[in-house]
Amino acid sequence: MLIGNLAAYSQPKSITNETAEHKAARMKWFTDARFGMFIHWGLYALPGRHEWVKHRERFTTEQYQKYFNYFNPDLFDPKKWAKEAKAAGMKYAVLTTKHHEGFCLFDSKYTSYKSTNTPAKRDLVKEFVAAFRAEGIKIGFYYSLIDWHHPDFTIDRLHPQRERNKDEWSEKEKRDTAYYTNLNKGKDMSRYRKYLKDQVTELLTNYGKIDILWMDFSYPGAQGKGRNDWASTDLLKTVKKLQPNIIINNRLDLNDYTDGFDFETPEQVKPTALLEFKGKYWETCQTFSGSWGYYRDEHSWKTQRQLLDLLITSVANGGNLILNVGPTARGEFDYRANKALDSLSYWMHANSKSIYNCTYPPDQFTLPAEMNTRLTYNPNTGRLYVHLFSYPSNGKLVLPGYKDKIKYAQLLNDASEVEYTVVGSDIELKLPKEKQPYEVPVIEFITK
Ligand code: GLC
Repeated sequence: MLIGNLAAYSQPKSITNETAEHKAARMKWFTDARFGMFIHWGLYALPGRHEWVKHRERFTTEQYQKYFNYFNPDLFDPKKWAKEAKAAGMKYAVLTTKHHEGFCLFDSKYTSYKSTNTPAKRDLVKEFVAAFRAEGIKIGFYYSLIDWHHPDFTIDRLHPQRERNKDEWSEKEKRDTAYYTNLNKGKDMSRYRKYLKDQVTELLTNYGKIDILWMDFSYPGAQGKGRNDWASTDLLKTVKKLQPNIIINNRLDLNDYTDGFDFETPEQVKPTALLEFKGKYWETCQTFSGSWGYYRDEHSWKTQRQLLDLLITSVANGGNLILNVGPTARGEFDYRANKALDSLSYWMHANSKSIYNCTYPPDQFTLPAEMNTRLTYNPNTGRLYVHLFSYPSNGKLVLPGYKDKIKYAQLLNDASEVEYTVVGSDIELKLPKEKQPYEVPVIEFITK
C-alpha cells in the first residue's frame, strides 16, 4: 500500500510531454556552442555600484528616478559589442531586457519606464538583436521576474522598501504576515502577473526568433516569491507556444517538473564545483569581477587563467559557460572587460577546437589529478584534448596507460607534431621545452 502511494507520489511531472530525444535535438546548438556572453545593463550602470543598488541602499522609486532622467548612453554601439563577443568565441548572448530595478531596455506597450522615454530615446533590445544576429550570434533575453518599480509588485524580503534597518530577519518577523499586509495595502500581484505575461509575450513576439529565455529568479518561502506569484506553468506554456524551440533556464520554481526548465544555472561557483553537474544540461554564469552590473570601484577581476579554468572545466564536465559584461552608462564595455575579452580572443583563436562541440571524454580517458590537466573530447571526430594547467619543466610528459589509446599527437595551436615514445603501456611525450605563448596550452590526440 505504502509503496504504491510512494510510487505515485514520485511520478515525474511534465508540462509539455516532450521526449528526451526531442529535447536533445532542441538543445544541440546550445551544447555545441559551450560559450556565451551575458550582458547586464540598466539604470544601475549610472550609480556604478552594483545592479542591486536600489535594494542595497533602499532607494525609493522617487530617489532612483534621477538615473532614468540622466540615462544617455551616447557611445552605445551594439555592433561593436557583437564583434567583441564573436572575437572572444562566444556563440550566444543574453541581454537583460529588464533587471530587478524594473527598467525596460525595450519599447514596451505596458510601461512608460523604458529606454525610449529616457534621453537614450532608443529601443536598445531591438538594436542588440539586430547587431548580434548579424554576427551569427544566437539571441537570449534575460527577464527579471522581480520588479522593484512596478506599483503592484508586493513588498517582500528582498524589496528596497522592506523597511527594516537590517537584512537578517528573525523567523518571527518572516512569519509576521500582518506587517507585510499592511505595507502592501492596495497592491495587487495579479495585475503584476498580467504585466509580466504581457511583457514576455511582447519580447517573444516583436523581435523574431529568440533562442534563450533567462528568467530570474524565484525565492519561495516566507516573504518570498515563487511559482504562484509568477503563474509559472502558464507562463512556460505561453513561452513554448510563442517560441517552440526556445531554451529556458531553471529559475521559474518549476524544478519538480521534468520539463519545467531546460538547463541548470550554477551561479558564481568554483570550477571544482562543476563536476557534480556532469550528465545534465547546464550553464554556469560568472562575472569578470564581483558584480553583474557595471561597478566602477570593484577591483577583484578574475585573471585570464581563472577565466580559462572556468571555460575549460565547464566543457570538461559537459556544460556551458556564460561570462558577463556590465557595460558603462555611456554604453561601452569598460577597459577591464575589453582586456579580459581580448585575452580570451587570443586563446580561443588558437584553441577553440577543444571547446566547441566538445564534452567530457569516454571513461577510458583519464589522467591522474596531480598532472593538473582537464580533458575534453569531440565525439564527432574522436579527438581528445589535454589542457595543461601545469607545464612540465623539461617538456617530458607521461600519459600512463595510453599506449593503445592514441595514434597521433600535436599541439592544437599550430598543429605541430608532438613526438612520443612507448614505454611499457605508457606513452612519453616530448613537448617543446619552452611553453608556447598560451596560458593553457592544449595537446590534441587522434585516438584509436
Ligand atoms: C542573481 C542576481 C542578479 C543576476 C543573476 C545572474 O540571481 O539577482 O543580479 O542578474 O543572478 O545569474
